[in-house]
Parts: sequence; structure tokens; C-alpha cells
Amino acid sequence: MKIGILTSGGDCPGLNAVIRGAVLKGDRVFGSQFVGFRFGWRGVVEGDFVHLDRHSVRGLSKQGGTILGSSRTNPFDGEYGGPDNIRAMLKRNSIDAIIAVGGEGTLTAAGRLSESGIPVVGVPKTIDNDLAATDYSFGFDTAVEIATEAIDRVRTTAESHERCIVVEVMGRHAGWIALHAGMAAGAHAILIPEQPLTIETVCDWVINVRDRGRAPVIVVAEGFRFESMDQAYSDKGLDAFNRPRLGGIADRLAPLIEEKTGIESRSTAVGFAQRGGVPSAYDRVLATRLGMAAVDAAEASRWGSMVALKGTDIVTVSIAEATHAPKQVPPERYHEASLLFG
Ligand code: F6P
Repeated sequence: MKIGILTSGGDCPGLNAVIRGAVLKGDRVFGSQFVGFRFGWRGVVEGDFVHLDRHSVRGLSKQGGTILGSSRTNPFDGEYGGPDNIRAMLKRNSIDAIIAVGGEGTLTAAGRLSESGIPVVGVPKTIDNDLAATDYSFGFDTAVEIATEAIDRVRTTAESHERCIVVEVMGRHAGWIALHAGMAAGAHAILIPEQPLTIETVCDWVINVRDRGRAPVIVVAEGFRFESMDQAYSDKGLDAFNRPRLGGIADRLAPLIEEKTGIESRSTAVGFAQRGGVPSAYDRVLATRLGMAAVDAAEASRWGSMVALKGTDIVTVSIAEATHAPKQVPPERYHEASLLFG
């Protein structure tokens, strides 16, 4: 079988480990051949790919980013997009199957293509950890480590200057990175999309912390909104899947805190550092196992399926299960953490 792999959407640490796991297992166990589509769905739509063999994936599991490149191209858009064109491109190049490594946008597109008869298997990737039907997605563990280190570092400068510092982390409409990094670093409050609050509640926590002689460190997820807001703060337009680009809530929050409490307040965002650099050992192992399992699923013609982590096992679920609704932080996880706020 000749399999085309693509990595699409926002990149994350561990993508190269998936590619390596898939190619090594396919080569050794099934005698599969591989190509890598360049820049996600864009490579599929344009028929742009490179050949992958054992040699091309040597030493890859620790390498950040993706050797194939990534983009947020929607495979249904443009003159050469859509199932008919993609089917023709696969046939022209004798490619039997696609392994699509991506998050919600990528996998939703993969699911639609599979419903149209394109042979696709999905692999969940996202630092946001917001895909349902998998306990964790690779990239999340690394992102939490990076965000935790950033918050630890912010804390010492906040203490030196007796400032409140608001640290913004990624996560789209899920608060997983904020919750885990905030708990790990002992943040004085964690603000997540699943739990809208009032500015008064946040300021009460800030004042409490200051009154105990500490410098308040607040972690805010980019998708957080106040109770008074209809949706998350966004001033950067839409992505290719018509989803708002988030980011900037910390810059809004810090001046509000300063105005209402009189405590000097600053903001900072951890930003793309959360997606860059070498994957953690946990993410390398998870990504390698998922890549190997994706080849099993393709060789077994389980089209429309996605490989996933359940407990410590790698299982196969349907892409639809993973994408029908985002996996958000349950209230009990937030309430457990919030006992330590303020
Ligand atoms: O989904 C991963 C992610 O990093 C989100 O946390 C963030 O909102 C988004 O991607 C940023 O996307 P872009 O790379 O298009 O700016």
C-alpha cells in the first residue's frame, strides 16, 4: 500500500515522531511505501509531495515542528479542492490512502472527505488537548511544560516589582493548558473559557493575594471571556475554517485590574513558544505509538477512523466521535483548582 501522510493546522511538538513511527512500522511490518504531502491539505490539493523512506525519518522523534510543513488550508476550497479532484490526484499518483495528522479543523475535513469515499485515517494532534475521544493528544504535555516554566519565571519578576502579572496561554476554546500549567506553577487564579467570571471576582482574588504580601500571578486562557461578553476576545479575523483567531485577552485584563485595584498590573503572552521546540518524552512516545497505530488502521482499511489514547492503550475510534464537540474542562476539575485561588 502507498500511503500519503500530511500534517495540517497549527503545528505542535511530536508531529515528526508520528511520521517516523508510521514510516518505520509500515516499512518493517507491511512493506508499505510512503509519501509526505507538503504543507498539509495544500499538498493534497496541489499534488505536492515528497517520498519518505526509513532514511528520511532517521532521528526525527525529538525534532520539533514538522519536516512536511503545515498550513491551515481547507481541502474543500479552491479550484483543485474537493473530493473529486483529490480522488483524481490520488489515482494519478497511485496513492492508496491518506493519514491526516491534525486537530479539529483538519480532522473535520478528513471526516468529510472520508464520507465522500476518500480513504483517510486520522491522528489527533493539538497542544489544546480539546479533541474528544482521546484522553490526551500529543503536544499538550510539551505545551504545559513550556507554559509552566514561563509562569514560574514571571512569578519572580512579579515579586521583585510587587506587580500583578497576567499570563496568557493558548488553548482555543478549551482551558486545559491554562488549568494544568496554572496548577503546576501555583497561579493565584486561572481563567478558562469554560468558566466565565466577572472582573470583580478576579479583582477580589488579586487583592487577597496582595494583602497576603504576595505578587498576584493570573493565568488566562486565550478563549476566556467575562460573563458580560458573548464570545471570546478576538481582533485578528478568521482562519481558513472560519474560526476566530484568538489572543489578546491578557492585554485587556491587566489594565482593568490596575484600574479597579490600584495594583500595578502587566500582561504577557507565552504565545508560539508553546508549540515550538523539542517534544517532551511523553509526547514522543504517544506520537510514535499513534503513528504506528495509524498504519495498522490504514492497512486494515479502517477509513474514517482515528487512532486515540484511552488510558494507556491506543485504540481506534471514528473521526466523527472526535470532532462532534470539543473536549472541554469539566466543572469539577475547575472547582478543584479554584479552591486554591486568591
Ligand atoms: O490549535 C493550536 C493553536 O495554537 C491554538 O491554541 C491557537 O488559538 C491557534 O492554534 C493559533 O493559530 P495560528 O497558528 O493560526 O495563529
